Amino acid sequence: MSSPSEAGLIHMFQGIRFTTKSSPELLKSLDTFDAREDDILLGSYPKSGTHWLAGVITKLCSTQFIITSAIELGDVSKLEELNKLSSKRIIPTHLDYNMLPPNFKKNKCKMIYISRNPKDTAVSMYHYYRNNPNLPTIDTWTAFFDLFLKGDVVCGSWFDHFLSWEEHANENNVLFLFYEDMKKDLPKIVKEISLFLGLNISDNDIQHVSTMSSFSEMKKNTEKENSNPSHTVCALTSNRELVFRKGTVGDWKNHFTPKQNQRFEEIFNEKMKFSKM
Ligand code: A3P
Repeated sequence: MSSPSEAGLIHMFQGIRFTTKSSPELLKSLDTFDAREDDILLGSYPKSGTHWLAGVITKLCSTQFIITSAIELGDVSKLEELNKLSSKRIIPTHLDYNMLPPNFKKNKCKMIYISRNPKDTAVSMYHYYRNNPNLPTIDTWTAFFDLFLKGDVVCGSWFDHFLSWEEHANENNVLFLFYEDMKKDLPKIVKEISLFLGLNISDNDIQHVSTMSSFSEMKKNTEKENSNPSHTVCALTSNRELVFRKGTVGDWKNHFTPKQNQRFEEIFNEKMKFSKM
């Protein structure tokens, strides 16, 4: 159960920790959500590059689509608000695949999942927790490392989350992406996204979207994103420094001790033994 520092900030739903910004009533009602065939769902475990992916996709489809806040964030009126939107919707979510509103699956909505080396995800989440008044207090990296490995953090276990989505990675309506691939060759991934979404985008525009989606450009332009909370991917903080922190691959090496790395590897190998990734 929750430690005292979690009181008022965290609640459990189906064995997973959620912030109180996701009301239990909303979570209970998700099964009734009316997904539309042209909805685009952006799935991720927190701190995997959700904003980056959202930035790319909104630039690719800005004229036709509106991006909403995460489907699980808000109170029971959230689904009604989403229903009222007349434009096509890009809907982010940190939900485990098994918790998605069933209509997304039934309607074969396009889903893009972004994943990231869990070691970097853990470090990113540690910094996010540390400086975020909407999340429980974390005293040390060592303490957070243990919580992360146990899955006692918001959105539960990284391993369970990843595996739940990986099971569907080869379905036609699912595109599975990696943060590290975006870092390596962003135009290539932007092209892949545009093909998946059936968009006809010129190579020049692919290049332009990639340039405008670099870490420095996105960090510079965050103020605009902040202007309307219901269309902001992350509603847990207005501090954009927390979202656009470092944007690098391998920051885990600055945090993990050799012993922590060994423990992580052991748990990773055990939990991921049936994973194809
Ligand atoms: P770091 O904390 O390691 O810097 P999310 O959007 O899922 O919350 O993920 C946030 C992480 O993605 C942060 O990682 C952030 O810096 C990184 N990020 C955001 N925009 C990025 C971009 N344009 N390029 C590279 N990394 C980016």
